Amino acid sequence: MERGERQAVSAAVLFVCLGNICRSPLAEAAFRAEAERLGLDVEVDSAGTGSWHIGDPPDHRARALALAKGAPIDHLRGRQLAEEDYYRFTHIFALDAENLANICARAPAGATAEIGLLLDCVPGREGEAVADPYYGDVAGFEITWRDVSAAAEALAAKLAGR
Ligand code: 4NP
Repeated sequence: MERGERQAVSAAVLFVCLGNICRSPLAEAAFRAEAERLGLDVEVDSAGTGSWHIGDPPDHRARALALAKGAPIDHLRGRQLAEEDYYRFTHIFALDAENLANICARAPAGATAEIGLLLDCVPGREGEAVADPYYGDVAGFEITWRDVSAAAEALAAKLAGR
């Protein structure tokens, strides 16, 4: 591919955590950055299984970290997973097993999205959760960023066929 040329991959990826203010917006940002780096033309979004933070900006610790990593998320707003997401997205990734179970339980009969656990994309980390950093300190958000970045890298490479 020529530098600057975009590669159409016909994928639309949704990242889903509980509140959509910590982990999934960071996963969205990390994956968007990696897809951009590889020149992938892919749709990216995030959502929560819970409804507490609909319309809210991401957590201030997540925003500060994303900014420091060069992938700001201040413009994002929380939203809840909706039925249409199961058709609109080709892939729905849960950040942990509890959310995966919830996403699967709510799936409509004709859902077309492939549903999976995010860290299953990372060799050697299959079955692991991206831990919820909400009730912890900023160090937890660094771990979140490390985890979602590893997944973003592996997923983007897979979608690019590398
Ligand atoms: P997230 O973290 O699922 O990574 O966005 C949480 C954010 C808020 C809450 C729980 C987890 N909450 O209970 O409000």
